Amino acid sequence: MKKASIFYFSGTGNTWWVANELAAALTQRQIEASAYSIEQIAAGRAAELGAASDLVGFGYPIYGSDLPLPMQRFIAEIEVRPVKPTFVFCTQWMWSGDGASLGASMLRARGLEVRWGEHFHMPSNVSVPVLPWPLHTDSPAAKAKYLRHSSFRVQRLAEYIAQSRPFYRGFNKLSTLAGLLQRAPYRRHMHKYRDDLVPDPATCTRCGVCVKLCPADNLRVCKNEIHTAGRCVLCLRCYSFCPESAMLYRGKKHRFGPPFRGPVREFDPYVLVGPHRRF
Ligand SMILES: Cc1cc2nc3c(=O)[nH]c(=O)nc-3n(C[C@H](O)[C@H](O)[C@H](O)COP(=O)(O)O)c2cc1C
Ligand code: SF4
Ligand code: SF4
Repeated sequence: MKKASIFYFSGTGNTWWVANELAAALTQRQIEASAYSIEQIAAGRAAELGAASDLVGFGYPIYGSDLPLPMQRFIAEIEVRPVKPTFVFCTQWMWSGDGASLGASMLRARGLEVRWGEHFHMPSNVSVPVLPWPLHTDSPAAKAKYLRHSSFRVQRLAEYIAQSRPFYRGFNKLSTLAGLLQRAPYRRHMHKYRDDLVPDPATCTRCGVCVKLCPADNLRVCKNEIHTAGRCVLCLRCYSFCPESAMLYRGKKHRFGPPFRGPVREFDPYVLVGPHRRF
């Protein structure tokens, strides 16, 4: 039986869900696949896993048509030798332009042979009050619609991989241009948003959940207060999973019902967490 290792970053669970569904779909097709959160493995261990696999995969959520910083750092660190056929996917709410193709370019620059690329539409995890109306949903029925659509794409991608037939969706000049139009301003201004999430001292119970969950070591307890270190990677995990919804975004309190708490009710954000923080 062939083996595949899937390395993923997930802020709030959508990419975790796709990575695990894809691992299961590949395993059903005689490719024994395992999915690893990049927070739980050092680049050296990932290189060993890659070397022992026949195929490697990379998955991440899209932020402003760009890769999250932890995934960019992981790709810059990892060496897979000998080179293995590689697949790449991103999860997005609505649209990223060239979300998977951008990761493919980064992986090719590291010498990997990318043969498959796919985009998965998943529920928006943006619960912060950026607009006068909610961008997210916590309704199981609304989430289920996205999951059904993504399940179909998971099975299709797994089939192409199992048959060794290359498959790329959204790898064209128009998508690249569309992605660039969103990515250029995002990259220019992203550093301004790296200190925007702060606990509200009035409602925060100092439970420490956000500190334990943060993949960037941005939140720390000091003298019974939570301090930020200006290195937020915008994953929104602390915002989504604070039991009191006590994180303020640019000084604004959470509104619009419960925040996004992952794609399925049973999602536990601790399954993502590990000692390897990249920011
Ligand atoms: C900072 C940030 C930027 C985002 N930008 C986009 C975007 O450009 N296009 C889009 O369709 N979704 C965007 N999203 C939504 C997420 O990509 C989407 O919900 C993703 O599936 C979340 O995956 P996760 O739960 O694995 O973190 C953005 C989310 C965040 C937090
Ligand atoms: S998870 Fe929420 S309540 Fe707990 S320490 Fe963080 S901000 Fe405060
Ligand atoms: S502070 Fe919150 S949003 Fe920022 S990296 Fe940490 S968990 Fe993610």
